Amino acid sequence: MQTGRRAFVRAVGAAAAGAAGAAASGKAASSAGGSTSAAAGPETTAPLVQPAGGAEGIEAFAFDAYGTLFDVFSVTALCEELFPGSGDALSQRWRAKQLQYSLLRSLMGRHRDFWVVTGDALVYAARSLGLDLTPARRERLMDAYLSLAAFPDVRPGLEALRDRGLRLAILSNGEPRMLEAAARSAGIDTLLDTIISVEEVKIFKVSPRVYNLGVERLGVDRSALGFVSSNAWDVAGAASAGLITCWIQRAAAEPPDELGFEAHRVVAAITDLAPLVDG
Ligand code: LAC
Repeated sequence: MQTGRRAFVRAVGAAAAGAAGAAASGKAASSAGGSTSAAAGPETTAPLVQPAGGAEGIEAFAFDAYGTLFDVFSVTALCEELFPGSGDALSQRWRAKQLQYSLLRSLMGRHRDFWVVTGDALVYAARSLGLDLTPARRERLMDAYLSLAAFPDVRPGLEALRDRGLRLAILSNGEPRMLEAAARSAGIDTLLDTIISVEEVKIFKVSPRVYNLGVERLGVDRSALGFVSSNAWDVAGAASAGLITCWIQRAAAEPPDELGFEAHRVVAAITDLAPLVDG
């Protein structure tokens, strides 16, 4: 497990308003389950009971972007170059605040796009660490977000799914231009059928409106759409909205989130998905 991600998972798990998982020893959840009594908001249109089954019958996969396809901690090296000794702390706090602000803004009903949220989170993270974020440094760090490294399993994993005739999409909090730039930079844009941004509904995950948007935009039955994320909280949100979920458990020690909705399938890498589809 990468140091940055391990520390990040620990930090976010400790944050009351955070949404990512906590680090500790953990086991992989592997079967359908989840609460049958979870409270549903008025926007929830999906059944409260998760559908049984796994990747069989899947016609399309929608992928979370940040942390799943793109390594948000690939900015750590630049953070360290600009702020020696504080690179790790800055990148972790930046990501934690980015997620927290997205959730807070959704609760407040004060949506701003993810580019703005990411910039605000960077300003806060730098200030909280006493770092001098000059306009030039801010610009370099924000630019780095447009060319995040893709995880090594991403390209071969997407190619294998595409070879099987599956439709592939991104379904992300990201603002469309930042998602397009990152996909292009990572060389995966040509493997995707579409990029779906929450900007179409102006609310962030884990609103069911976001996952419903994926179903609508891909034009498939809810039970034929697999949602893939390495963010355990995102998996819980998608499962709560009635999607078939695959959790990419990038860190073996990361436990699932305690939100009452487990992933239907837990795998270690995107390359593990095609064999699931084969059955
Ligand atoms: C995404 C972030 C939240 O939606 O990971 O891509």
